[in-house]
Amino acid sequence: MYVCLCKGITDTQITDAVAGGATNLRQVRKALGVASQCGKCGVLTQEIINETLSMH
Ligand code: FES
Repeated sequence: MYVCLCKGITDTQITDAVAGGATNLRQVRKALGVASQCGKCGVLTQEIINETLSMH
C-alpha cells in the first residue's frame, strides 16, 4: 500500500528501511525521501516505523 503519494513510497519500503537499520523518521526520510514534500504521510510513516521496531 502506498504511504507517501508524493514520492510513491509503500509501507514495504518503509519496513525494509527500518530492517536495514533506520530507527527514526529522519533516517527513513533520508533513505527514501518519504515525507519530504507535503509531509502528510509523516504520521503514518512514524506509526509504521514504531510498529516495525517493536516487532524486531
Ligand atoms: Fe509523502 Fe506528500 S505524501 S510527502
